Amino acid sequence: MEKYIVEGGRPLYGHIEIQSAKNAVLPLLAASVLTDETVVIHKCPRIRDVLNMIGILEELGCGTRFDGDDLYIDSSAAANHEIPAALAKELRSSVFMLGSVIARFGRARIAYPGGCDIGLRPIDLHLSGLRRLGVAIAEDGGYIDCVCEKPCGAEVLLDCPSVGATENLILASARAEGTTVIRNAAREPEIVDLQNFINRMGGKVKGAGGAVVVVEGVRKLHGAAYTPMPDRIEAGTFLIAAAMCGGKLAIGNANADHIASLLHKLREISCKIRVQDDKIYIECGGKRLSPKLVETSPYPGFPTDLQAPMTALACICDGATVIVENLFETRFKHVPELIRMGADITVRGRTALVRGVRSLKGADVIAGDLRGGAALTLAAISAEGESTVTDLGYIDRGYSEFEYKLRGAGARIRRVRV
Ligand code: UD1
Repeated sequence: MEKYIVEGGRPLYGHIEIQSAKNAVLPLLAASVLTDETVVIHKCPRIRDVLNMIGILEELGCGTRFDGDDLYIDSSAAANHEIPAALAKELRSSVFMLGSVIARFGRARIAYPGGCDIGLRPIDLHLSGLRRLGVAIAEDGGYIDCVCEKPCGAEVLLDCPSVGATENLILASARAEGTTVIRNAAREPEIVDLQNFINRMGGKVKGAGGAVVVVEGVRKLHGAAYTPMPDRIEAGTFLIAAAMCGGKLAIGNANADHIASLLHKLREISCKIRVQDDKIYIECGGKRLSPKLVETSPYPGFPTDLQAPMTALACICDGATVIVENLFETRFKHVPELIRMGADITVRGRTALVRGVRSLKGADVIAGDLRGGAALTLAAISAEGESTVTDLGYIDRGYSEFEYKLRGAGARIRRVRV
């Protein structure tokens, strides 16, 4: 296990370049098995979730290699339709493989997916949607067995706009017989990226970014090269870091439209923000007003993946903030750790009341999930005194070179083995 040792209290200055979006790259990797030609993902981040997904592709028989930051996937020899428990338990996105593996082989067998423990995270919508496409599904001994000679286009109405279910159904129907209409689809920009990628492979997907996605099945998809969208959650994390530490940061390779809900909150609390092309400039110092209410909701609402960092920021704002987590039941694991750092927070169910304190104090804290771990690191670099943040395995799932980027901006943070 590894931990950060952090000496907090220094402002951040300089430039931070954002990686390609984890949540865009993962479904693109799943989509790569829809063709037997080579796929290239440019600027592919070497984060743990991506490396685990590459492990799954290799298990299926795909050849993968990095050339610099470009990932090449050759699935011409892919022959295996089973994803074993050891790999599936490492990341939840393994469930996307269902849609694409069924589309490629007519069957799939996968262990129930793992991922960060932030709530129940059921996959009922994925499975009922796949059934609508004609997939026969049996669940046995922790495995899901799917069989379908060829998925058939259908109307699918999602009970709630699940990102993963929308993506899985797009993957399963890209080569289906006929047209699939997904209603109440999630509208996250990562779904638009998946649509664009599949269309570059010769697919016919339209409507992503809206509530109705239409997928006209095609007989064959071909190889393609693609540069995924920037990671809006990583960009948001560094913007919140600047708001907490003070200073002046330029965030490069960012799309401000994708994090409009966060930029709105940061302006409200008195951060100065300027957007030019793909750069977001943030300047903060002195007093921060409290954001008052932060309520997570599906895109374009405030992203649940920025709730933990935002809670850390609210801890040192002037006044009280109510944080409502509407997506995941147990996504407040960072709160007891923030309290160890001097935060004043009360949690009742899905709501946290944060009463701002002047500053956080250094402490030894433990990351309990990916975004919670990032939030604790931000708390540590902004706090007075020394902190340690343990279990960096979570942070490594989603952030590449997290501490290098923070250190380049002036934070005192280093990684050590425990
Ligand atoms: C994706 C993101 C994750 C983000 C989340 C919400 C990826 C790899 N992960 O996760 O970072 O936090 O969107 O923006 O893209 N639900 C069901 N049944 C289902 C599926 C989902 O009830 O079959 C519920 C979930 O419990 C949750 C809500 O729908 O309350 C949204 O979940 P979903 O959008 O599916 O999240 P993920 O795709 O897992």
